[in-house]
Amino acid sequence: MAPEPEDEISEKNPRPLDEDDIALLKTYGLGPYSTSIKKAEKEIKELAKKVNDLCGIKESDTGLAAPSQWDLVSDKQMMQEEQPLQVVARCTKIINPNTEDAKYVINVKQIAKFVVGLGDKVSPTDIEEGMRVGVDRNKYQIQIPLPPKIDPSVTMMTVEEKPDVTYNDVGGCKEQIEKMREVVELPMLHPEKFVKLGIDPPKGVLCYGPPGTGKTLLARAVANRTDACFIRVIGSELVQKYVGEGARMVRELFQMARSKKACIVFFDEVDAIGGARFDDGVGGDNEVQRTMLEIVNQLDGFDARGNIKVLMATNRPDTLDPALLRPGRLDRKVEFGLPDLEGRTQIFKIHTRTMNCERDIRFELLARLCPNSTGADIRSVCTEAGMYAIRARRKTVTEKDFLDAVNKVIKGYQKFSATPKYMVYN
Ligand SMILES: Nc1ncnc2c1ncn2[C@@H]1O[C@H](COP(=O)(O)OP(=O)(O)O)[C@@H](O)[C@H]1O
Ligand SMILES: [Mg+2]
Repeated sequence: MAPEPEDEISEKNPRPLDEDDIALLKTYGLGPYSTSIKKAEKEIKELAKKVNDLCGIKESDTGLAAPSQWDLVSDKQMMQEEQPLQVVARCTKIINPNTEDAKYVINVKQIAKFVVGLGDKVSPTDIEEGMRVGVDRNKYQIQIPLPPKIDPSVTMMTVEEKPDVTYNDVGGCKEQIEKMREVVELPMLHPEKFVKLGIDPPKGVLCYGPPGTGKTLLARAVANRTDACFIRVIGSELVQKYVGEGARMVRELFQMARSKKACIVFFDEVDAIGGARFDDGVGGDNEVQRTMLEIVNQLDGFDARGNIKVLMATNRPDTLDPALLRPGRLDRKVEFGLPDLEGRTQIFKIHTRTMNCERDIRFELLARLCPNSTGADIRSVCTEAGMYAIRARRKTVTEKDFLDAVNKVIKGYQKFSATPKYMVYN
């Protein structure tokens, strides 16, 4: 019997599927409306996307679930079950440091002392003796190392953005700039020179002189030049309501300064706190004096070759307490005198740099016309000259404006000048 041809085809060399067969296979398992349903689904998706696009940002973009899926109740419960934030303690001692079973003695203020271990999230290298730490409420395990406590009002005194004053903006004062840089920059940049010679660099500088001669200005230029942290304190900021507060602020200030790599502390108008000690019989000024004594204390407390430099500025050096000024504390005293002719010319040029002036104004002549005037006076002459030009509806300032301004400012404001008084006191 001849083998059936159909069997042969199906087993040895099967007939390839043709298009009809494939189409048939594809319909396997499909219901009557499958294709149309799929199409509809696709359309719905597209429509939804379009709606989303039209609506703008959706919750899904912000990382939140759709509002219908929010479960506020259980979220709230979870928050409550979570550890409420910790208690602040001080780690006073480490028992068996650098071993597996190191233990920590912590002191929770007004509660007790405990010997505890570390939480899961802290490594032993993070914790040092004397550090403030956060501990949880149940087992008092150390959960987080905390930075030292510094009053926010003290932290705020740090000058973050650099002032836009440079040494070029300070006219005259060559000698003063030189002296200041010697004290502030040299020990920070070349400490080895001092070590070799075996002397201690000055810890600080006192700038004194009549008002408006550029003391604050120069300090700002120093702040601009240095990469060191610059802390600016106005004397009166340290005068506080409660007894001991001012002294505490000074302490925290220096604590903060010590934690920086390099730091310049600038006390402006230091006569507000640095006045000579006296007894007024009521004791009202004791607090101010205590603040000053704390500064004296802190000045003694840090190393002269260290990273802190102290600048002070005042226009009443005669009232300062001698203790503040004794060598070893503020060794350097830099007097800011009235600018000489050359200095005044320079100051004129500095302040007219940005002004729209006539060409070839004789600044030398102008400077000659204002003897005994300070940098601030000259600045006000320049402003006044600008005002004359505005009044005359001109766009440039002429030399005549300057001459008028000199007359007005130098002659007219003489009554207000504080310089003669300063000269009397000193
Ligand atoms: N040497 C100077 N060079 C340029 N401008 C000066 C100079 N001295 C004072 N001024 C001007 O006077 C203003 C007041 O000076 P300031 O340094 O605040 O005085 P004080 O010595 O009383 O702290 C400054 O902002 C600056 O415009
Ligand atoms: Mg000043």
